[in-house]
Amino acid sequence: MSRTPFIAGNWKMYKTGPEAVETARILTQLCSNVQEIDVMIAPTFLSLPLVAASLEGSKVKIGAQNLYFEKQGAFTGEVSADMIKAAGAEYVIIGHSERRQYFGETNALVCKKIKAAIEVGLKPILCIGESENQRNKEKTFLTLDKQVSDGLKGFGLDELKDLVVAYEPVWAIGTGKTATVDQVKKVHQYLRSLLEKLFSKDFADQTRIVYGGSVKPENVKELMGIEDVDGALVGGASLDANIFINIINYDI
Ligand code: G3P
Repeated sequence: MSRTPFIAGNWKMYKTGPEAVETARILTQLCSNVQEIDVMIAPTFLSLPLVAASLEGSKVKIGAQNLYFEKQGAFTGEVSADMIKAAGAEYVIIGHSERRQYFGETNALVCKKIKAAIEVGLKPILCIGESENQRNKEKTFLTLDKQVSDGLKGFGLDELKDLVVAYEPVWAIGTGKTATVDQVKKVHQYLRSLLEKLFSKDFADQTRIVYGGSVKPENVKELMGIEDVDGALVGGASLDANIFINIINYDI
């Protein structure tokens, strides 16, 4: 089954609007010859419309880093799916471990956010991953099972046709400690079989499962060579377009 590789940059809380636009402009130029890879960047909410305007017609797609599930209302500081869509986003990262860790996001909340995204036509990127403690206690697969099962509870196959699952072991995020080939292979294989169990083989085969956690130009080729790895969700190494392009061009 061939799945178009998905290489995404999660810019987190970095870059002012002008800085984000400049990086997006450089990346667009560097990506001009990129073929058959879906490239996305996720700037902050403030930069999103500015970057979207600057990427008009570019191969580089835009994503948001989060959303709130209510359509509108007295939710100070939050941003709705409609607003993100109107700002030019095509994707939205949901359930990132930093939101689970610092902002108490639960699997149930993640599920509501995925529903809100789908309702307006945003493509959800469901982030899952175990902590070091969970891995050390051999609770990795139990943790991932709950995050996927509870996060995707109640959805039909068609609603999830654009879903991307991002496996990001928490202990590998921002640490320089990338998961080993064997660890990534085992988890991605498990996630593919879990999607088949929860939905169908066709669904599992079509759904992209990407890896995140200290992806760099030095390790991306090895990671992309692992069966069931369909791309990468990159943090730090995506902030500089001249570094990120070396991850996007992993196969050259
Ligand atoms: O969402 C991607 C991010 O969490 C990975 O961060 O810096 O380890 O590539 P980093």
